[in-house]
Amino acid sequence: MRVARAVNIEDLRRAARRRLPRAVFDYIDGGAEAEFTLRENRRAFETVTLRPRCAVATATCNLQTTVVGTKLALPFVLAPIGSSRLFYPRAEEVAAQAAGEAGIAYTLSTFSGCLLEDVQRASSGPVWYQLYLAGGRECATASIERARKAGYTALVVTIDTAVAGMRERDVRNGIAELVTRDPLRMAPYVWQFLARPRWLAAFFRDGGLMTFPNVVLPSGPMLYADVGKSLEQSMVTWQDLRWIRDVWDGPIVVKGIHTADDARRAAAEGADAVVVSNHGGRQLDGVRGSFQVLPEVVAAVNGQIEVLMDGGIRRGSDIVKALCLGARAVLVGRAYAYGLGAGGAAGVTRAIDILRADLVRTLKLLGCESVSDLNPSCLDAPAVQTTRVESATTIA
Ligand code: FNR
Repeated sequence: MRVARAVNIEDLRRAARRRLPRAVFDYIDGGAEAEFTLRENRRAFETVTLRPRCAVATATCNLQTTVVGTKLALPFVLAPIGSSRLFYPRAEEVAAQAAGEAGIAYTLSTFSGCLLEDVQRASSGPVWYQLYLAGGRECATASIERARKAGYTALVVTIDTAVAGMRERDVRNGIAELVTRDPLRMAPYVWQFLARPRWLAAFFRDGGLMTFPNVVLPSGPMLYADVGKSLEQSMVTWQDLRWIRDVWDGPIVVKGIHTADDARRAAAEGADAVVVSNHGGRQLDGVRGSFQVLPEVVAAVNGQIEVLMDGGIRRGSDIVKALCLGARAVLVGRAYAYGLGAGGAAGVTRAIDILRADLVRTLKLLGCESVSDLNPSCLDAPAVQTTRVESATTIA
């Protein structure tokens, strides 16, 4: 019911907060350090306004697009969200299923609690695999090979995670202690879970704290407690893109681009697309909002490869603004994660439905029949110019 009544993504966020233990909700909702970049991702969209052409009949509304050869019914993709299985039983399968039904792609995080093969089977649509080198090259090669066999159509290589960001809410909520499985260290923090008995019952029915079955070490699937250390030990570098290119012959999407230089480098190293992303403000705090960075990256790659973006997308009009400035499509993260936490498949479907309805309405009110009609002239000119001047200054 909560989910069905949600009018916008903020309603799903509130519903997720009511259903989830604090530590789980804050893991989704929070950002790094002072959460400056988390806020900037939203603020960046609010600095640009739309310029409608009125008295234009737009009977049809075409939202379809193609990203790295993947056909999408809507111009967005579900972003990789690690440990989703904490939010809802079998969450990665549930989210992939909802994405498939909507005709969009789901991106499975390396840190998934479900087998990548099961997630692919759960979806009737395209699935992409997000790669961290956790466990080292051999381990990553094995998961790439499994993803290829299972039918994943693109590999998303995340490059902004040299170490895990400092998420202060997670520290205060005792995430590090809670994943030790040591009752004494966990004890001061368990009240958060006891306050959400329905979530707790579902969590235990689903097997309790998951391991990561797609990161298979000689000792078995990687444990939750080992994630931070494994990221530090196996940072992706530009050199790695070369061997990744050798073991994966499908499209490669490089996620975590903050500058024109890195975008050009990704193109030179054989990426088919880049995602302008600061990991939803969860990694380096103090960087610009993704939407502000977008024009710089679009100009830098000059049509050579596709440009996607993520960070702060909560409404269809945010997606429209990103497409106007040259994004081929966007990734949405928390918008659907709140839905998952609020009500599983129904919540993800509600999030997608809200964004779809927003897109249709916004396009019609703008006087555009298709997402391919969107261009910078649909945005307030001074605001667009300001964005460009700021970008140019940053390049210099
Ligand atoms: C993420 N993100 C992420 N990215 C990635 O490449 N691998 C991952 O495992 C995760 N895990 C993850 C967990 C959670 C809880 C969140 C909120 C985000 C980042 C994600 O893919 C995306 O870049 C951001 O979520 C986009 O910002 P918004 O849409 O959440 O504002």
